[in-house]
Amino acid sequence: MSKTIFVLNGPNLNALGKREPGIYGGKTLADIEAECQAAGEALGFAVDFRQSNHEGVLVDWLHEAGATAAGVAFNAGAYTHTSVALHDAIRAIPVPVIEVHISNVHAREEFRHKSMIAPAVKGVICGFGPFSYILALHALKNITQ
Ligand code: DQA
Repeated sequence: MSKTIFVLNGPNLNALGKREPGIYGGKTLADIEAECQAAGEALGFAVDFRQSNHEGVLVDWLHEAGATAAGVAFNAGAYTHTSVALHDAIRAIPVPVIEVHISNVHAREEFRHKSMIAPAVKGVICGFGPFSYILALHALKNITQ
């Protein structure tokens, strides 16, 4: 049976494709999900891909991943920069979490340079557009096999 990887997406990522395409590109979240499903299949993972605009829902999904999944690729959106609750949830689960960003947050506004979740995750991938997600799946393959 394939291991399951959760790919979790936070606020405003449902608007990809329409949202600031100069920064995030023209692909929709559905396009990115399809790419993750294909990459997951090639790597031998079942991918459970989700998005929520609500911080507590993301906390619940991290707990669920801790009980049922082999790892998490997590684009927390703006909650990256604010959320102690997500930091704590990542520290509370026994599976590796990779922080993912489409844009290079370090080349953007100063408030995006600080990640509240970075100290709790296994590693961070940012700046490669939607391919950041695929890199995170490869990283999870490498650290979970
Ligand atoms: C983002 C970067 C965040 O700073 C921003 O709030 C997002 C998207 C990214 O994927 O580049 O919503 O996580």
